[in-house]
Amino acid sequence: MAALEARGIHKAFGGFLALAGVDLEVASGERRTVIGPNGAGKSTLFRIVGGELRPDRGAVRIFDREATPLPPHRRALLGLARTYQIASLFPEKTAREHVLLALLARDPRRRSPWPLPLPDLEARAAEVLDQVGLRGREDLPIHQLTYGEQRQVEIALALAQEPRLLLLDEPLAGLGGEERARVAGLIRGLPRSITVLLIEHDLDFAYAFADRVTVLHQGQVLREGPPQEVRADPQVVEVYVGGRLEGDPALEAPVGGDGPAPGLLEVRGLRAGYGQGEVLHGVDLAVGEGEVVALLGRNGMGKTTLLKALMGLIPAQGEVRLAGEPLPAGALARARAGLALVPQGRQMIPGLTVEEELLLAWRPGRWTPERVYRLFPRLKERRQAPSTALSGGEQQMLALARALLRNPRILLLDEPTEGLAPLMVRHLGEVLKEVAREGETILLAEQNAAFALPLAQRAYLLDRGRIVGEERARTLLERPERIWERMG
Ligand SMILES: Nc1ncnc2c1ncn2[C@@H]1O[C@H](COP(=O)(O)OP(=O)(O)OP(=O)(O)O)[C@@H](O)[C@H]1O
Ligand SMILES: [Mg+2]
Repeated sequence: MAALEARGIHKAFGGFLALAGVDLEVASGERRTVIGPNGAGKSTLFRIVGGELRPDRGAVRIFDREATPLPPHRRALLGLARTYQIASLFPEKTAREHVLLALLARDPRRRSPWPLPLPDLEARAAEVLDQVGLRGREDLPIHQLTYGEQRQVEIALALAQEPRLLLLDEPLAGLGGEERARVAGLIRGLPRSITVLLIEHDLDFAYAFADRVTVLHQGQVLREGPPQEVRADPQVVEVYVGGRLEGDPALEAPVGGDGPAPGLLEVRGLRAGYGQGEVLHGVDLAVGEGEVVALLGRNGMGKTTLLKALMGLIPAQGEVRLAGEPLPAGALARARAGLALVPQGRQMIPGLTVEEELLLAWRPGRWTPERVYRLFPRLKERRQAPSTALSGGEQQMLALARALLRNPRILLLDEPTEGLAPLMVRHLGEVLKEVAREGETILLAEQNAAFALPLAQRAYLLDRGRIVGEERARTLLERPERIWERMG
């Protein structure tokens, strides 16, 4: 029996055809990955299968039941559950509360006037949390969990529904090192009683996990087949990977110059955290004018906290100077002083079009809307679309374009490669190189050292809220083992 049959799916937004006749059939128990460039229509297809979006044409069947007219909660009764590309958890609630709510939502007792406590639900919640590896972390509010743990909570929410068909949209995005391995292991370990359909830009995982792979391109199925065949398909390589990445001299040659630069940004003894917990324990660093500095570290080691503290988004102690002057507190003052942050998770403004976001961000300077459109032609094509409707990768491009248009003195980038298709990662590498050559000053937080180091002159290694090393980028490129030696 097929777990999922989608036939002739069409979907247009305004005049833009996002899906142009997609057929997808997934057998019961199968592992299927859907890959394809940013904006190919992958998440749109998931939304149609999940019932959040109606197709203009076409039909969806789930376990041999007609599902096309059904809303999401009715599809859940057929066994479908999903996670989203962009996290949608409540920051103040704990993992346990999330799972309990999910369990309660599908329990008939929710209608009774005073349903709690329900010991059987508590027990089931504990079981699910355990299954996804969150034991010991279940009573912390979501905002205190690492990015990877938040992903685990989302998978727990889906598993709480006891699905037979599970849709995962980029479950590994933004994860590195152990966390990536942990979530990948969790997905690989799901029982075959659950059919898994997932979108992933991590090709190693996408190919290793799948029984079959579907490649979407411009709203159509470009190719479908077993991983080894799809991987070798020259057309797939052309539209998605864009030629050989490894050994690409353009990406491997360091940007150049590695002498000490005068400090444009100087940070001393920076301490910050959330509530009672201190995350940064006295960080010292400096970024010279026109320098690109990589900040390397695994998830949860404080990269995002450091960038937020620099940007004035969270309170911090210590000294932050720009061109010798102490920076005023607060995000607005720091933006005015010339800092711009591209946050992890993009953060679009609901109600604005792509173009409006750009014009709102724009301060006169080297970067103009025409120039960022030349850099990201895709944004020009989609400029009338609501920014929140952009695909994950397109939002990442918009976040960077927006920051460039601030014409900042220093650009703070938080994991800009997250959610980008391989071809786009390469394009972004070239864009940042271009931007760096023009003398832009950049602090680039990444766990993807292979991406960050060729762009940087220097790198700091951040481990558990402390700088544990500072090296020339070239040294770390030649001797990558030095990165992990220093980190616990
Ligand atoms: N509600 C909407 N309104 C307008 N355009 C939309 C809407 N939803 C999606 N789109 C557009 O449809 C195209 C496909 O988007 P989708 O999110 O499906 O891409 P994707 O393949 O998941 O890409 P990514 O890998 O970047 O996540 C994009 O260009 C996007 O801007
Ligand atoms: Mg997507």
